[in-house]
Amino acid sequence: MTSHRIAVIPGDGIGKEVVPAGLDALRATADRFGLRLEFQRFDFASADYWQAHGTMLPADWEETLRAYDAIYFGAVGWPSVVPDHVSLWGSLLRFRRVFDQYVNLRPCRLMPGVRSPLAGRAPGDIDFVVVRENTEGEYSSVGGRVFEGTERETVLQETVMTRVGVDRVLRFAFELADRRPKRHLTSATKSNGISITMPYWDERVAAMAERFPGVRLDRFHIDALVARFVLQPDWFDVVVASNLFGDILSDLGPACTGTLGIAPSANINPEREHPSLFEPVHGSAPDIAGKGIANPVGQIWCGSMMLEHLGHPEAAAHLLGAVEDVLARGPGEAPLTPDLHGTGTTAELGHAIAERVRERQ
Ligand code: NAI
Ligand code: MG
Repeated sequence: MTSHRIAVIPGDGIGKEVVPAGLDALRATADRFGLRLEFQRFDFASADYWQAHGTMLPADWEETLRAYDAIYFGAVGWPSVVPDHVSLWGSLLRFRRVFDQYVNLRPCRLMPGVRSPLAGRAPGDIDFVVVRENTEGEYSSVGGRVFEGTERETVLQETVMTRVGVDRVLRFAFELADRRPKRHLTSATKSNGISITMPYWDERVAAMAERFPGVRLDRFHIDALVARFVLQPDWFDVVVASNLFGDILSDLGPACTGTLGIAPSANINPEREHPSLFEPVHGSAPDIAGKGIANPVGQIWCGSMMLEHLGHPEAAAHLLGAVEDVLARGPGEAPLTPDLHGTGTTAELGHAIAERVRERQ
């Protein structure tokens, strides 16, 4: 029996409500496919931990988490107790950096039963993946201020692109595109305006493309690309982008597919030298936390991405299929949560999905 050790970090707010639903669905899937998933829950990376210990993480967090095959994460942030820059930089962003999770992966798929804010779009019309560079690029801390407080006040921040850093994320994106039926990759650029780093990015894209002759490649400047996300989302299959452009695209993409509550993401270390982290796109949602009405689908979908990463594509597809089946029943038949125009609770929707995992062929 294949066995995996998973570190579970619910975090704050609705993270603590949707993670149990995600674990139910994962357990049901593991049973179906004869996998053994050992879950170990940790209470750090949360406001409660911060209040008790004055830090977001214990000193030995790195060795602790390193012993796991993956991290299943809820959401962190409780601004009335810990300022957001402290909670985020003190936990999640440290995981991403220390574990070199250089790919941020965000599938954008219009699910059955979910209304897109874009008119006239049906399930199947939108189904693409954003691959964002997660460690360098525009989000560097190279720069500074001089002549502060004077007329000559000067502020400078550099973009850092390394050949290693650019090539590895491009390789991941090309390989992903090569495995998908459409075999189509779009690169986000802005080489007409950003005249040094973006032409370099384009150059590395062209060099990598030679190794993937079966992948159809196109490039768009970021301004035209965001417009096309809205006007023609069916164009896209895999989209690769630098850190800043990827950040923007990976919020816009899921926004085109309806509610924030269903969007999943993965922070991946493709070499598997370090654990990868799977988390919904949404945060801790203090406005609805404690009411039991948070949509667990984003968290459950992350579980499917985690199974895929752990080498179980059939189990991953089965779980995602169960999510689709339940969503497709609509708010009349399925206990969909209020963001999906239903009156169901987190637990009810989670149970319905776990049940569907067990019964579906
Ligand atoms: P948020 O994603 O928590 O909430 C935004 C809006 O979407 C709220 O109205 C919320 O009720 C709704 N929403 C979010 N998830 C939902 C779900 N599963 N079902 C139904 N409705 C849902 O973003 P916000 O309010 O800006 O941030 C709250 C806290 O979360 C902050 O401390 C922030 O720093 C943190 N945060 C953490 C993230 C992470 O852990 N990766 C990501 C985003 C925010
Ligand atoms: Mg963002």
